[in-house]
Amino acid sequence: MNETYFFREPEALDWLTDTYLPRQLVNKQPPLRLLSAGCSSGEEPYSIAMALLERYGERAKQLFQITGGDVDHQVLNKAQAGVYGGMAFRALPTALKARYFSPAGRSFPLVDAIRQWVTFRSFNLLGPGEHELDGPFDVILFRNVSIYFDEATPAGDSAALKTATGAWRYCAMWSHRNPGQRLGCVIAC
Ligand SMILES: C[S@@+](CC[C@H](N)C(=O)[O-])C[C@H]1O[C@@H](n2cnc3c(N)ncnc32)[C@H](O)[C@@H]1O
Repeated sequence: MNETYFFREPEALDWLTDTYLPRQLVNKQPPLRLLSAGCSSGEEPYSIAMALLERYGERAKQLFQITGGDVDHQVLNKAQAGVYGGMAFRALPTALKARYFSPAGRSFPLVDAIRQWVTFRSFNLLGPGEHELDGPFDVILFRNVSIYFDEATPAGDSAALKTATGAWRYCAMWSHRNPGQRLGCVIAC
């Protein structure tokens, strides 16, 4: 289904941009590298970009690199085009919609300042993991993706994620809205 929308579970986004990343910047040399694994049509990585621009202004582009990846080429094409409408905006604050989209008829293209910052890659999390992703990443968001995996394939077995983190260190955060769902978010730490 590739279901996604801007500012989905904003509490996780707030924690990332207001708590976790500022702490990481104290000890790590920028740019910090963020990956949205299973990004669908791009709303998740673009939401991170908006939240970081809100907090850091234009400096955010020097401090952070943002990549989105998905196995589905159709959704990746849509992500790269960066044109949205309707339900994609159901949780996005109106002020951010006005700031980061320029309406064209009934569709809403993202402004170039965001679209050109976020990059997209095609990859399969259940593939061999080598050469697919240019890791390691400092943060990997892995939300609402493992629902696609069968029970016999725990997310921890993903060679691609192991490669992307550099070493297999992660904190698993359960999606608080869907506590039955495995691994709402994975963060290299
Ligand atoms: C429900 S969407 C979630 C999008 C976004 N992470 C969010 O939380 O809003 C799940 C995405 O995971 C992708 N996906 C499923 N299995 C995958 C795999 N093995 N490798 C990469 N992406 C995968 C699907 O193509 C889909 O676009």
